[in-house]
Amino acid sequence: MFRRSEFTDADWMDYLKSLDLPHLNDWMRDQAERGQEFYRRRLRQIGFRGERVLDAGCGAGNWTIALASCCTEVVAIDIDPVRVGVTAGMQKYFDAKISTQIGSIDALPFPDESFDAVFCHGVIFLVDYRKALAELARVLRPGCPLYMTYNGKGWWRHLIRDRGPSEPQCIVFGANGLISRYFMLADELSLETVIGDVARQTLQKELLSAFPVSGAAAPIEFQLHQAYASYLECRDERCSRLNEAALAFCRNEFSRAWPDSRETRCARDALAGIDELCSPTIPPEYKARIARDAVSRIALGRSDYVLEVHTYAHEPEEMTEALVQQGFHGIETAHEGCLCLDPTIAPAPLIHELHKGVFECVAWR
Ligand SMILES: C[S@@+](CC[C@H](N)C(=O)[O-])C[C@H]1O[C@@H](n2cnc3c(N)ncnc32)[C@H](O)[C@@H]1O
Repeated sequence: MFRRSEFTDADWMDYLKSLDLPHLNDWMRDQAERGQEFYRRRLRQIGFRGERVLDAGCGAGNWTIALASCCTEVVAIDIDPVRVGVTAGMQKYFDAKISTQIGSIDALPFPDESFDAVFCHGVIFLVDYRKALAELARVLRPGCPLYMTYNGKGWWRHLIRDRGPSEPQCIVFGANGLISRYFMLADELSLETVIGDVARQTLQKELLSAFPVSGAAAPIEFQLHQAYASYLECRDERCSRLNEAALAFCRNEFSRAWPDSRETRCARDALAGIDELCSPTIPPEYKARIARDAVSRIALGRSDYVLEVHTYAHEPEEMTEALVQQGFHGIETAHEGCLCLDPTIAPAPLIHELHKGVFECVAWR
């Protein structure tokens, strides 16, 4: 049996190659090609250590095995049984330092204050971040650190603008990130409740005149719902006219002055989101989805979006605010690869210029 120090990068690569997981192969090997020292060095730079550590959203375990080199015990959890299986396959090389579990970081199956460090790399943008942060705070002992990375919207823009031209799939990933963020912002602002009466009445009138409902004596709510159902089926001019009107009302709403600076920030961002999602680079179905949701929010007073892929973006300001709400303090944030809390280690250059849209932070419970 291997001992921990004997699990070389070549062993790691051989192990991954022995697995038959076509959908993960390229990604796992890319991660492993960096070598274990890359991950260990990053942990040293951010001064990450602890006795009992949670790797929250461990994926294929590339950080888990590095954590095992500087922590006494690593508990690795992920929602995907296949990835947990990959990590579990390396447990035996690490003298029982690593244990694995299937589960979600927004409902952790651990008691309160059961870890003295939490590591969460590349996961928080896939979940409801407030719920997940509350869980990560709950399982951390007071005075202990959380390390986390998260995508800012710059990451999705990078996928669209820089990588999209040569890898069209990146445009779809990027557009999914932007549309998730747009809906998150519209929800945070409760757009359906704050929209002005004039906008609501105008759009309701346009909806009913474009899609008249027989039996005009029916209650107005019923008529609106019937008309909305016809609009959803429609593919002609009437639908595009309504879409444009609803988008114009949204733009207008997001441009107005909001009562506090957080709302103003969200509104400005939502406005930028509409323009990006309506640009010719993005497949037209994204514009249609925000337009449909806008018609529903404005005319019916309720949201209608269904996200196929939840991949959110958070900027440092809002993530810091959410961390503080969960009782974290001493929060240090940087572009990924730049945070260096150990003064004896020289700061590393940015992992890649294009990683500017990804952030990392250490926060104390
Ligand atoms: C981009 S990978 C990052 C994996 C690993 N932390 C790393 O940096 O290599 C995202 C991981 O988050 C996991 N994930 C997504 N939603 C999750 C959830 N609600 N709870 C736990 N893990 C989740 C995915 O299965 C995937 O393994």
